[in-house]
Amino acid sequence: MNILTDINKAADILREGGLVAFPTETVYGLGGDAMNPAAVRKIFDAKERPLNHPLIVHIAEAKQMAEWAMHIPEDAIHLANAFWPGPLTLILKKQPAVLDIVTAYQPTIGLRVPKHPIAQKLLHAFGGGVAAPSANQFTHISPTTAAAVAEELHGRIDAILDGGPCEVGLESTILDLSGDKPVVIRPGMISAEQIEFVLGKPVSTWREDTPKVRAPGMHHLHYAPVTLTLMIEPKRLERFLMQLPQASFPVAVLALNDVTVPSGVEIIQMPKDPTQYAQRLYHTLRSADNQKFKQILIEAVPKDNAWEAIRDRLLKASRNE
Ligand code: TXA
Ligand code: MG
Repeated sequence: MNILTDINKAADILREGGLVAFPTETVYGLGGDAMNPAAVRKIFDAKERPLNHPLIVHIAEAKQMAEWAMHIPEDAIHLANAFWPGPLTLILKKQPAVLDIVTAYQPTIGLRVPKHPIAQKLLHAFGGGVAAPSANQFTHISPTTAAAVAEELHGRIDAILDGGPCEVGLESTILDLSGDKPVVIRPGMISAEQIEFVLGKPVSTWREDTPKVRAPGMHHLHYAPVTLTLMIEPKRLERFLMQLPQASFPVAVLALNDVTVPSGVEIIQMPKDPTQYAQRLYHTLRSADNQKFKQILIEAVPKDNAWEAIRDRLLKASRNE
């Protein structure tokens, strides 16, 4: 596996049925030719991902949407105009030619036009659709640097394109447009409110009680560090630390506010701005996980809209429930 800078070479690897990890503005993706069943199968194998989790197909431009989806609603066009290229994935009815292994035998397909210049150049050079999940082992934290991809998939893929740290830092918002009403099935940094503003109508958010919607990342301990990770409400944090038994130290705390802590606690100060917090979160969790902490405590973030996607990932990373 090599770290590549030559985008045309990466496109050749995709054409030959190989796997290339590449940067997007959200997280790094593990790309393979979406029309080559052997290549797509290799993606699942490299990640050790169960075959019932469908992959997002990445395309260079919105005008390619009709090659992959049919009965495309007006809403999809409006959202593509507003947010593509960018961190939004649309679930649409699939074209019959789309491979079942890509969509996990569902009648729908997830499509996204990423904004990162390297992703854009790769998709233009390749020409077709690139199936790409996040470039991590199944259930692990998504990689936001090329080094994190190497840590996750070394020896299992053909190449990595290094594009530096990802700007958004959390996976794309996924909006299901295949039913009667638009439903956010994975929150992201494009919020439901921003989508509602463009569509001029309400958008619902997937909840446990919504039947028959496949929710991404609902597998137990998706997006999770290996180290025991807990999310603690700010007003309980200091007392929680004081009451921890000696055997639980050393502890890392991802803090938003000022906290007074006993010895054996390393404070990792997180940004108070949600955009910056999101950008830094996975890298921070990954490096804390690689140190010898017995526990990682995360000070709970505010419950407002701007923090919704972050809160969603923190809940998935922690073992509170
Ligand atoms: O930001 C992102 O979306 C990143 C970058 C690489 O584009 N990709 C990503 O892919 O997060 P992945 O595979 O880790 O997560 C995509 C989620 C999966 O959990 C899957 O269940 C859901 O999208 N998904 C894909 N196709 C779907 C479909 N047809 N219906 C419902 N959910 C779908
Ligand atoms: Mg993923």
